[in-house]
Amino acid sequence: MWFTRQLTVRTGRTTIPLLMLLFLGCFCTQSHGQYVDDPSAIVNVTYTYENYVLSGSMMLKSFPDNMNAYIYYQTYDGVWNLTGTTITAHWQWENADVTYGNWSFSGAVSPYGISKFYVYLQLVESGATYIDDNNGQYYFVNNGAPRSTKNCTGYNVVHTSVANGVTNLNLTLNGNGCALYSPDVKYLTVSITPYTAEVVRIKIADTGNTRWQLPADVVAEGTPSSETIKTKSYTVSYTNSPFTFKVARPSGEVLFDTSVSGLPSLIFEEEYLEISSVLPDNANIYGLGDMADSFRRPPDTTLQTLWNLDQGTTRKNNAYGSHPVYYELRDGLVHGVFLRNSNGMDIALVAGQITYRVIGGVLDFYFFLGSTPAAAVEQYTSIIGKPAFVPRWTLGFHQCRYGGTWVSTQGIKATVDSLQQAGLYLDTVWADINYMNAYEDFTLGSNFSDWNAYVATLHQEHLYHVPIVDPGIAITNGYGPYQDGLSSDVFLKWPNGSLFFGQVWPGVTVWADWFHPQAGNWWTNEIEKFHQIDSFDGLWIDMNEASNFVTPPGYEPAYQINNDGAWGVTGINTRTLSTNLTHYSGVTEYNVHNLFGHYEAIHTHNALSALNPGNRTFVLSRSTFAGSGHVAQKWNGDNAATWDDLYLSIPQVMSNQLFGIPMVGSDICGFNGETTEELCNRWAQLGAFYPFSRHHHSTGMNDSFFFLWESVTESALNAYTIRYTLLPYLYGLMQQASSTGNAVFRPLWYDNPSDTTTYGIDTQFTLGNGILVTPVLTEGATSVTGYFPDGVWYDWYTRGVESTSPGYRTLDANLTHVNVHIKGGVILPAQYPAKTTYSTTQNPYFLIAALDSNGMSSGGLYVDDGVSVNPAYTQLTFALSGSTLTIRVSQNFFYIGPKLNSVQVLGFNSPSAPSTIYLNGRPLKGAKATLSQQVLNITGLSISLNSNNVLQWK
Ligand SMILES: *[C@@H]1O[C@H](CO)[C@@H](O)[C@H](O)[C@H]1NC(C)=O
Ligand SMILES: *[C@@H]1O[C@H](CO)[C@@H](O)[C@H](O)[C@H]1NC(C)=O
Ligand SMILES: *[C@@H]1O[C@H](CO)[C@@H](O)[C@H](O)[C@H]1NC(C)=O
Ligand SMILES: *[C@@H]1O[C@H](CO)[C@@H](O)[C@H](O)[C@H]1NC(C)=O
Ligand SMILES: *[C@@H]1O[C@H](CO)[C@@H](O)[C@H](O)[C@H]1NC(C)=O
Repeated sequence: MWFTRQLTVRTGRTTIPLLMLLFLGCFCTQSHGQYVDDPSAIVNVTYTYENYVLSGSMMLKSFPDNMNAYIYYQTYDGVWNLTGTTITAHWQWENADVTYGNWSFSGAVSPYGISKFYVYLQLVESGATYIDDNNGQYYFVNNGAPRSTKNCTGYNVVHTSVANGVTNLNLTLNGNGCALYSPDVKYLTVSITPYTAEVVRIKIADTGNTRWQLPADVVAEGTPSSETIKTKSYTVSYTNSPFTFKVARPSGEVLFDTSVSGLPSLIFEEEYLEISSVLPDNANIYGLGDMADSFRRPPDTTLQTLWNLDQGTTRKNNAYGSHPVYYELRDGLVHGVFLRNSNGMDIALVAGQITYRVIGGVLDFYFFLGSTPAAAVEQYTSIIGKPAFVPRWTLGFHQCRYGGTWVSTQGIKATVDSLQQAGLYLDTVWADINYMNAYEDFTLGSNFSDWNAYVATLHQEHLYHVPIVDPGIAITNGYGPYQDGLSSDVFLKWPNGSLFFGQVWPGVTVWADWFHPQAGNWWTNEIEKFHQIDSFDGLWIDMNEASNFVTPPGYEPAYQINNDGAWGVTGINTRTLSTNLTHYSGVTEYNVHNLFGHYEAIHTHNALSALNPGNRTFVLSRSTFAGSGHVAQKWNGDNAATWDDLYLSIPQVMSNQLFGIPMVGSDICGFNGETTEELCNRWAQLGAFYPFSRHHHSTGMNDSFFFLWESVTESALNAYTIRYTLLPYLYGLMQQASSTGNAVFRPLWYDNPSDTTTYGIDTQFTLGNGILVTPVLTEGATSVTGYFPDGVWYDWYTRGVESTSPGYRTLDANLTHVNVHIKGGVILPAQYPAKTTYSTTQNPYFLIAALDSNGMSSGGLYVDDGVSVNPAYTQLTFALSGSTLTIRVSQNFFYIGPKLNSVQVLGFNSPSAPSTIYLNGRPLKGAKATLSQQVLNITGLSISLNSNNVLQWK
């Protein structure tokens, strides 16, 4: 290969991979020329900063000899000058991958210093014009070093008091302050509040408490345990002058330490807060989202901006939601750090440090001491709210489509019919904005006059329906939702009281102020009226960052966060609501921008609860914030039909598990762009294991339904047969997630935190601890290499042993095969799959008992009506040891109709099948045991799951 990383060539608006161009031999000069953006071609940047002068050097990788390299640079804070040169270099065919070109730079830095330094590289064909599109950027974060922070000398503790276990510190500004971006706040109060033995909150706020702080009814804050905490898993210590603090484990291991050599101890200005902590070198950090990035965040080059933005899956950019929480895995122990703050922020990970740069609010930190991965997530969700328990039908396959043939009832019905005729699985039929009249919420277009009758037939087949609803309300005269909203005065306004207008699908729109006390009633009312013309079963709330097609004027703070990866170019008002808007409570949009979708989800959840009291809700939201999982579910927005986005969906789904949103998925086969048969194949195989499993495709594209290709149909049938077979297992995981917060779609380290090999793996995952999935993520592959952690792993298909010791294994992966393995030691509850979740739940159960190396395994089963918020339920445990399977009913409130028909024992190490099966000590007539390749199949059981039973074989 000529390039290790694929460069991207842009010609006008179309993006074509360079390799393709090379094959086409197309380096011919064109009038406007070819150019390439390649930040990854810049390597080994070094720099020093002294007396307001930055100097350094960097190396370039090689590139074709008919291309000139243009390097230019920009700093975050503007006002400074560098000297550099434009260089021309030569392609070395035989050494394509060697470092090429050494480029040095130096220049004066403004007295305000810089916080980020960007270098752009573009390769431009000889004779062609360089085009400034900012796409070739490579940045490094100086993390404050080159900026003059001489006068940022922090705060001193002037008074200390302890009451009810809470330590309060009064701080005053040390010296005159540094006013880097706005005036310093002079008086601060720090409260250190132990919540439980594993959770401690450290909040730094202005003493007057006049700054924006999150209301607990919008973002939960938890309550400290009323019981005396006997043995804490943490120690908190602080220094007085300047004030810094440390959170450590009792062992002395320091987890968070704000005294970072060379960095300000604390900056607390009106519109700029900065605090840093020491991290280990090469730290294992996960979380900080929404984002599309590797699951383990690059510890030296991560700049995560949190500012909700209608933005697809551009790597490293801020995206639809904000989750200012990270988890660190250190020596097998996990802890979490949550900054409860809704303002825009940049969070930087650079060599051994994390720095928060926040443009408002207060510094309200929670520390979760773990120390297992599950414990850390459980502790975080105990503060922000446990994930909502989803209705069981939502675990089935979802079909959606924007545009195409989905612009009429008949068009949608045709797809549903084809899916069913192809024998494919299906539970839920979605409707994108095409169902509306003129894209107005809560209306049906003329092609959908028979829609509700069709929804009724779907319901008869035990299928479900979820339509989209956008937050932008058209300002059409006589349009009910608009008129009602005006009467209730619920729309967002400028400070002078006039309505704020923007533009989305229906044209000019207004948006609800979710903080308005009437907003909930208005929204519920519109949803209830809509339900009379469209009997939906859940709602899909899109465009809620909030997305606006136009950029309104609005306040931009002096410290510009890296919105859309283009600081200084893309201000925080870009394609959203003006930061100047004032909410009912008086708070400005500047402070609560990141809460729009979250608060809309709360109101939508409340509306659906009012519509169906006692039933669980399903609210699929694009934008989320810390705690959204308590009321809503999520998909990863507008991804693209690319192999990279196929891969990125794994870290995205995994990260959301850490954010308390276990019910999440990405659009299968890709939303934007044309998919291919092969990509759609692999995506069906991966997507069948997303907790939320939906196929969706954008308008203007060819159809990409599974049934359009024979091979994709086969792949989807294979993969979804596994999903529907494991429905009782998956449902049990979702139930557990809702009661504890425990992750469903897990990174390999989740159940193997001491195995350092797993720390960087994000191309495989497990469902619960029992199922390992190793999907193919590359084009043209016929095999896939995956890591098998400690323990015995069995192949799903052959039920034979795949691995007995940790290590990488290469597995066959022909086009229609997805590799799935079962963990020894786990008993998976399963049902014979039918094409809907409803009919699957009517079928008999069977157990897959995979033995560990000691010949043991255990598991459980949770069953209820699938929809109630507080259901009567039955819970069972299974334990297999030797030749005895013990079935215990621990809770028994829901009658389980289907019987347990068979038990498969994997890894059954015996020369012959047992001759007799006993139930509770008596031979069981009709039961039969067969043995093949160490798989014992016990069939003909018909055991009720409503009472205790002991099954034995001899
Ligand atoms: C970058 O620098 C490191 C350390 O000096 C060196 O080992 C590495 O080979 C360099 N990489 C490139 C691509 O030049
Ligand atoms: C940078 O250069 C411009 C014009 O060349 C000059 O006006 C400006 O003062 C310089 N800024 C600094 C910080 O040196
Ligand atoms: C730092 O403080 C000193 C003394 O108050 C002042 O003279 C100087 O201008 C300040 N420097 C900056 C960069 O604010
Ligand atoms: C410390 O701060 C609290 C507010 O958090 C205030 O009530 C108290 O008066 C302050 N005490 C001193 C000595 O400044
Ligand atoms: C937004 O508010 C700022 C001050 O906070 C003001 O300077 C600016 O004019 C306002 N913009 C608009 C469009 O109202």
